[in-house]
Amino acid sequence: MDSTGRFLLSLVTAATFLQVRSTVTVIGLYGETIEVPCNNGAAKPEDLIFTKWKYKMDDGTSGDLLVKQAHKEQAQIQAMDGYKDRVTIAANSSLMIQGGSLVDQRTFTCMVVYGSNLDEHPVDVLVHKKPLPPQIKDKAKELENGKLTSLGVCTAADANPAAVIMWSKNGKLLVADGKTIIITPSVKMDPSTGLSTTTSGLQYTAVKSDVGAKFTCTAKHSLETQVSAPETFVIHYPTEKLSLQVLAKTPIREGDNVTLKCNADGNPPPTSFYFSIKGQKVTVKDSDTFTLTAVTRNSTGDYKCSLVDDDKMEASEKVVVSYLDLSLSPTGKVLKMVRDTLLVKMEQDASGDAKVSWTKDNRKLDETPRFDNVTYADAGFYVCEVSVAGIKRSQSFQLVVEGTPVIKKMTEHHSEDGRHKVLTCEAEGVPRPSVQWSINGTNEENSYINGKATHKITVVPTGNLTITCIATNKLGNHFMALNVSSLIKDEKIPGKDEGPGKQERRKPERPKRARNWRSAKLRCRDSRAVLERRRRK
Ligand SMILES: *[C@@H]1O[C@H](CO)[C@@H](O)[C@H](O)[C@H]1NC(C)=O
Ligand SMILES: *[C@@H]1O[C@H](CO)[C@@H](O)[C@H](O)[C@H]1NC(C)=O
Ligand SMILES: *[C@@H]1O[C@H](CO)[C@@H](O)[C@H](O)[C@H]1NC(C)=O
Ligand SMILES: *[C@@H]1O[C@H](CO)[C@@H](O)[C@H](O)[C@H]1NC(C)=O
Ligand SMILES: *[C@@H]1O[C@H](CO)[C@@H](O)[C@H](O)[C@H]1NC(C)=O
Ligand SMILES: *[C@@H]1O[C@H](CO)[C@@H](O)[C@H](O)[C@H]1NC(C)=O
Ligand SMILES: *[C@@H]1O[C@H](CO)[C@@H](O)[C@H](O)[C@H]1NC(C)=O
Repeated sequence: MDSTGRFLLSLVTAATFLQVRSTVTVIGLYGETIEVPCNNGAAKPEDLIFTKWKYKMDDGTSGDLLVKQAHKEQAQIQAMDGYKDRVTIAANSSLMIQGGSLVDQRTFTCMVVYGSNLDEHPVDVLVHKKPLPPQIKDKAKELENGKLTSLGVCTAADANPAAVIMWSKNGKLLVADGKTIIITPSVKMDPSTGLSTTTSGLQYTAVKSDVGAKFTCTAKHSLETQVSAPETFVIHYPTEKLSLQVLAKTPIREGDNVTLKCNADGNPPPTSFYFSIKGQKVTVKDSDTFTLTAVTRNSTGDYKCSLVDDDKMEASEKVVVSYLDLSLSPTGKVLKMVRDTLLVKMEQDASGDAKVSWTKDNRKLDETPRFDNVTYADAGFYVCEVSVAGIKRSQSFQLVVEGTPVIKKMTEHHSEDGRHKVLTCEAEGVPRPSVQWSINGTNEENSYINGKATHKITVVPTGNLTITCIATNKLGNHFMALNVSSLIKDEKIPGKDEGPGKQERRKPERPKRARNWRSAKLRCRDSRAVLERRRRK
């Protein structure tokens, strides 16, 4: 026993001033300097003689740490063990323990001796340490739908006191129910440091909705509550629904490629499928598609896909291929004689209601053209267009109408000065007929408009004459006679039905009379007589 101890003993025996205050507790941090305040940090008494720190040793007995005489600058270290180098006393009498560790969890007592008093202030020291950040280890590679699987083990290492681990899914606490969720906690203490490592195993029964769920573990500790990094898991679940997708532009037309895609909602998705193509089962591996190349109308029908390991799981989809066939007769260039009959035949075969439209020379026709009796006006470029959803086809023919010439009109009328006659002959025909009068004249004019050829000449008739107009083309000719008088009188012969015109039709040789036209002569006798009569008057 040292001198202080002896002094204390004498003091205790000499007087009854000893006061032991109720124990206070101080928490220090592991690895740091622990401050153990004396008398809760109360000011030192004025008649202080000395302050002494003691501690309760492992065997339960009391050991001295240091003593500080009030009048001395330096405290005297009395400790013989590990505390020897770790303890100091602060100016405010606090015991400072460097490098706090769990061995410092014991009762330290500050003894204050002043005047004739001796106060003891015991302090229980606790040393706390927060765990290392919690970590999820031994993670499951994947979770099976509906099957209890060890998801992982959460570890919160080296804490004092031991941390408490809790599991959460998407931030919501998981509560063990012993069936679908089993949590196995355990705490191990490191005998050398006294620090505790808490582990917690989670066995979890995943459901389909757990895809993408974030699992975390939380280490709860008096110093700090820490949360692990979130973990997500691949969830395996079988296919419950199958669907068949038709990948193609609609409407699907003949020649298109159509891809069938089988979609399964399981995870992982199946790698092989059966495709039922027109009653034939095709196995597709490492793909979920089957492509029909260059489909035809015969490809129209129901297509199916199913799972290789469960062919009751099946999906089907209809594929409809649109088509349109058009056949037109005649096509190309069609040559017809006037009054001939032309039969137009259009046949179409389509996958739906087809729309048919006709145009003639780009103008819309109200109905399919009929040619029971072809006219020149019927000539033109005819286009038949047929369309059905997504498909359009057209065919055409060019109708050319030909015919032998027909004289439609012969006229004679006086010129403005009254001294000439203008003879006009109008003839219809294709190809262009040559139209001529049987006499020569002046101011010859020819035209060919809309299939009508016109020939006009100016003559000075010498008397009553019968002249002829002849129209000729490669198909034949037509001529008509006209009586031309020297008198001032107009005549009009419109066609064969009326008037004094005389017609003949021969083909292809020229009429006998026409051969003599060139010899016909205009005589001036009548006009001379008229002039003499005027002179006599
Ligand atoms: C006592 O002194 C120490 C060191 O100066 C200081 O850190 C501590 O806060 C003081 N304690 C009290 C209770 O005043
Ligand atoms: C259809 O597929 C074949 C072969 O894959 C390809 O040669 C062809 O160009 C495709 N046709 C169309 C219209 O895409
Ligand atoms: C469609 O099938 C029919 C009979 O099965 C066949 O005669 C025809 O040639 C086929 N058509 C096409 C475009 O494959
Ligand atoms: C053709 O039409 C013309 C003029 O319209 C008529 O005179 C003729 O009789 C018709 N022919 C037939 C065969 O219908
Ligand atoms: C010409 O015909 C008219 C009647 O058409 C007749 O009056 C006249 O005498 C005729 N002249 C000659 C010269 O024949
Ligand atoms: C033309 O005159 C002659 C006699 O002068 C007559 O026989 C003939 O019928 C007349 N022809 C026409 C088309 O008028
Ligand atoms: C018409 O004129 C041509 C020459 O221009 C001549 O050869 C022919 O004889 C004439 N015919 C008549 C009927 O005068």
